[in-house]
Amino acid sequence: MSELKVLSVVSEVFPLVKTGGLADVAGSLPLALVAENIAVRTLVPGYPAVKAGIGKAEAVHTFDHLFGGPARLLAAKAHGLDLFVIDAPHLYDRPGGPYVGADGKDYPDNAIRFAALGAVASGIGFGLVPAFVPDVVHAHDWQAGLAPAYLHYAGGRRPASVTTIHNIAFQGQFPRQLMPALGLPPHAFAIDGVEYYGMIGFLKAGLQLSDRITTVSPGYVGEILLPEGGMGLEGLLNLRRSALHGIINGLDTEVWNPATDALIAAPFDARTIKARVANKAALKGRFGLDLDAKALLFGVVSRLSWQKGLDMLADSLGTLLDLGAQLAVLGSGDPWLAERFTGAARANPGRIATVLGYDEALAHLVQAGCDALLVPSRFEPCGLTQLSAMRYGALPVVARVGGLADTVVDVNEMAKAAGVGTGVQFSPVSAPALQGALRRTGALWADQPTWRKIQRNAMATDVSWRLPAAQYARLFRDVVAERAA
Ligand code: ADP
Ligand code: GLC
Repeated sequence: MSELKVLSVVSEVFPLVKTGGLADVAGSLPLALVAENIAVRTLVPGYPAVKAGIGKAEAVHTFDHLFGGPARLLAAKAHGLDLFVIDAPHLYDRPGGPYVGADGKDYPDNAIRFAALGAVASGIGFGLVPAFVPDVVHAHDWQAGLAPAYLHYAGGRRPASVTTIHNIAFQGQFPRQLMPALGLPPHAFAIDGVEYYGMIGFLKAGLQLSDRITTVSPGYVGEILLPEGGMGLEGLLNLRRSALHGIINGLDTEVWNPATDALIAAPFDARTIKARVANKAALKGRFGLDLDAKALLFGVVSRLSWQKGLDMLADSLGTLLDLGAQLAVLGSGDPWLAERFTGAARANPGRIATVLGYDEALAHLVQAGCDALLVPSRFEPCGLTQLSAMRYGALPVVARVGGLADTVVDVNEMAKAAGVGTGVQFSPVSAPALQGALRRTGALWADQPTWRKIQRNAMATDVSWRLPAAQYARLFRDVVAERAA
């Protein structure tokens, strides 16, 4: 098996910069691909957090003019990752997040900021850095969506291109007037190019012009081919059906390892599962919940957004309290949802508690200490928190959608008889169905031997990158062979 070189092109990467699961995937898949003899370099924008986090870096290329200013391409190693960093202060050196400024609004020049990401990726694809000429350019989400377009329109012998959809709700659409600024040929603004409903579509471009498309679960493949799930791109995806593959995400099982986790109160494994009680107590202490040891403790670790369906949970708190259960919510995002949970916590002290904000360490403690993790998403391309929940012996209670449906085995009657379930699924995605799931979880909790069995099943589930990495490797090798033919 010869070595293959892959350039991963992405707008966030754990642990340097993260707003969600995309960063987790970008930060862990490359490490898993080593076992497949695939050498990945990851191209990321040089936000302040990235530049501060990489330590010593070497300039491997200088641009006199990259979309409005001078820039450098840096090579660095950090956290086991081989990185290329675009050091372009005029594009990335700003206070605020990767996409949104300190004022809470998208940066007005996001089209240019991420066009630069795609253009540099294409440059590397054509040999900008002789020491690393990739066989495959792997573009993640809309921010990298123009990489396949720049490769395509440059003409000549190019590497293979793959676009991965992590969330089709974010498509990166911009006014057509920006075409000249992007440096793509005018004829690229066409239905078989970057044009999308009269605008420039970054994700659309990637889906149209890359050799393969993947998304992060087979279940989500089925959903994005339909109008409701495809969010406008279902027509194109149906045309490209034979190029579209679903590969489930894995977890970095070193970052998420309950036996060695320094971020939790008491490490444990499947044999010492009883030690979870110490984490439950620590979690309750942190959240100010009553130390009612018998009560079933539900947890949430989530962005607070419509996608995640947590408004349905807010509508179902009466059911949860009627069960004698408690709830710990760790979330950040939309103020209207945050207010619902802080309000519920104020009204039910000791029973419901909310910590607002983004707190990586506390996320680990919630996973280690809660009994069941709620993920009532309206749609979920893959989802990672249900995977870490399983690894930490917290039973996932999930909506039967996308990757949640693919990763959690519902403890229905037959599964229980066969001893194989790992959590609870509910469908349709509605507050009454969620309430039914809360009651089912309560009934399972009342049957502790069965609960323990499900916990063990969950903890024994392989949620690592082992199998998914092999699937990516195969896809990369196939597409490279196809281009060589
Ligand atoms: P998404 O990317 O749609 O937000 P995922 O489940 O794929 O959903 O990934 C979410 C990631 O972000 C997980 O690593 C999860 O632990 C983390 N996360 C989400 N919300 C928070 C939070 N408020 N604090 C800490 N980590 C969080
Ligand atoms: C997106 C999706 C989430 C997925 C993550 C990583 O943020 O919302 O379901 O797990 O990307 O692929």
